[in-house]
Amino acid sequence: MEHTGTTATPDVPSIPLTDSVSIPQVGFGVFQISASTTQQAVEQALEIGYRHIDTAAAYYNEREVGDALKATGMTGKVFVTSKLRNCDQGYDAARVALDTTLNNLGLDHLDLYLIHWPFPAVDQYVETWKALLEIQQEGTIRAGGVSNFLPEHLQRLIDETGKTPAINQLEVHPSFSQTETLKFCKEHGIVVEAYSPLGHGSDMKAEPIQQAAEAHDVTPAQVVLRWHVQSGRIVIPKSTHAERMRQNLDVFSFELTDEEMQSISALHDPANRVGADPATFVQSQSWANQKSRGNIPD
Ligand code: A2P
Repeated sequence: MEHTGTTATPDVPSIPLTDSVSIPQVGFGVFQISASTTQQAVEQALEIGYRHIDTAAAYYNEREVGDALKATGMTGKVFVTSKLRNCDQGYDAARVALDTTLNNLGLDHLDLYLIHWPFPAVDQYVETWKALLEIQQEGTIRAGGVSNFLPEHLQRLIDETGKTPAINQLEVHPSFSQTETLKFCKEHGIVVEAYSPLGHGSDMKAEPIQQAAEAHDVTPAQVVLRWHVQSGRIVIPKSTHAERMRQNLDVFSFELTDEEMQSISALHDPANRVGADPATFVQSQSWANQKSRGNIPD
């Protein structure tokens, strides 16, 4: 890869997930980065100062994330999240899936392992959660959590296992802020991690965001990411451009006013989802399925 010069690691705060595990508030997301580009992008992100990488078995680039960690000597020094595919749900299948993920990443344990979707159509998420709780006890994952879980799914995990997930990763951006799920998470002490934090780039044109960017002499992307972190969320923006990666990590040296925060939150409209609806998402997430849906670029 082309090196861009040494950059001091920006000071990124961490948020506690358990008594012993904290997650850096900004991570580098690799959804829809092709396998052929992933190693270079992750190496660049690590060089810029990211110390938290978010991947998933269903992104089909775990191996390249592992290659980047190895090539940079960062294996074991970076917070790594991966996720369990829908087709791997179930108590026994979850253990096999984790082994494959660890093997791909070249790791002997994961910092955070998430159930990628509730996939209510097959109704296996409680069994899968039980497996994750056991694996966490055994130490192969430091923390377990969920992604795309709505209040009804979270409530069921709590009712049937007595254990509340530490974290829920879901689509949140200014024009789609899932207010009910966020409220439930807050009430139950569940940390929220925002995916598509920039709304795939679409939210940045909104007027309150443009105005705040001008007022603070930062970019619209930095305003949106600052709105998330100032609300206590974790963010995992994706970019394949070094300058944007740098900007996206640099969101701790300015503060939005209460008015700016409110005017950005007011952009919410339930019609603005950019991803799938967890209540109805029934895809297997096999390679062929992901490829056919355009989630694995060439
Ligand atoms: P690119 O990868 O070409 O930089 P999200 O994380 O919400 O899914 O948004 C990702 C999209 O936003 C990608 O298209 C990415 O493009 C773009 N993006 C990421 N960071 C920035 C930034 N700082 N400024 C403008 N666009 C960005």
